[in-house]
Amino acid sequence: MNPVFIALDFVDAPTVLKFLEPFKDVKTLAVKVGMELFYREGASIIKALRNQNIDVFLDLKLHDIPHTVQQAAKQLGQLDVQFTTVHSLGGSEMIKAARRGLDEGAKQAGVNGPQLLAVTQLTSTSENQLHDEELVNVSMAESVSHLAKMASQSGADGVISSALENDLIHQAVSYDFKCINPGIRLPSNSVDDQKRVVTPTKAFKLHTGGIVVGRNITQSDNPVQTYKDIYNAVNGGIK
Ligand code: C5P
Repeated sequence: MNPVFIALDFVDAPTVLKFLEPFKDVKTLAVKVGMELFYREGASIIKALRNQNIDVFLDLKLHDIPHTVQQAAKQLGQLDVQFTTVHSLGGSEMIKAARRGLDEGAKQAGVNGPQLLAVTQLTSTSENQLHDEELVNVSMAESVSHLAKMASQSGADGVISSALENDLIHQAVSYDFKCINPGIRLPSNSVDDQKRVVTPTKAFKLHTGGIVVGRNITQSDNPVQTYKDIYNAVNGGIK
């Protein structure tokens, strides 16, 4: 099944735990913890979520020299999270180091190592920025598919991508390579600050490996029902 990661873009643990209370009977719950929450609460928020049997995608986007990333990943590997992220622009050696660190940490803690996802080009990076600031001479599409391939060859299980890039990435790497997609909006909701958005049903049609949804669930009048509707849609259930 394709997971729906609820982006817990909240300021602190009490707010998160209060928000999650009505979800206690949902069996398939998965959440994304980002930098804002993790930098405030640290490992304790991960423990609290794992104690409730919630799958955790810890999105810290590591990017440093391979040794530092390996040591950081070793810490994250001990947390029993199911997914975590690195920037593919850190290079193949850095991604391999992250994989090693996660596996070492997981082994030490006696848990399963998380799946490693790579960010290719941030979706906030424009084609102009790529050319003028980074002096990259290929198109965004070429850069994304090249970085996805390199990440896969270095031990990543998938990438974070716009659902609109899934086909390009699957063709460059393989159809087993996971594309996890943010930028999701229900047909009835506003796009907020996201630019290129797709609906959960469209993400399913575009062979998503899972989606990240923030405000459409967290700001919904009925977050549990909205979560369930989105979960069904992204697994081919409803239109
Ligand atoms: O509220 P919304 O559904 O737009 O939240 C999407 C979540 O996914 C946020 O946590 C955002 O930081 C994250 N994200 C994104 N686009 C990316 C990568 C991550 O929106 N390219």
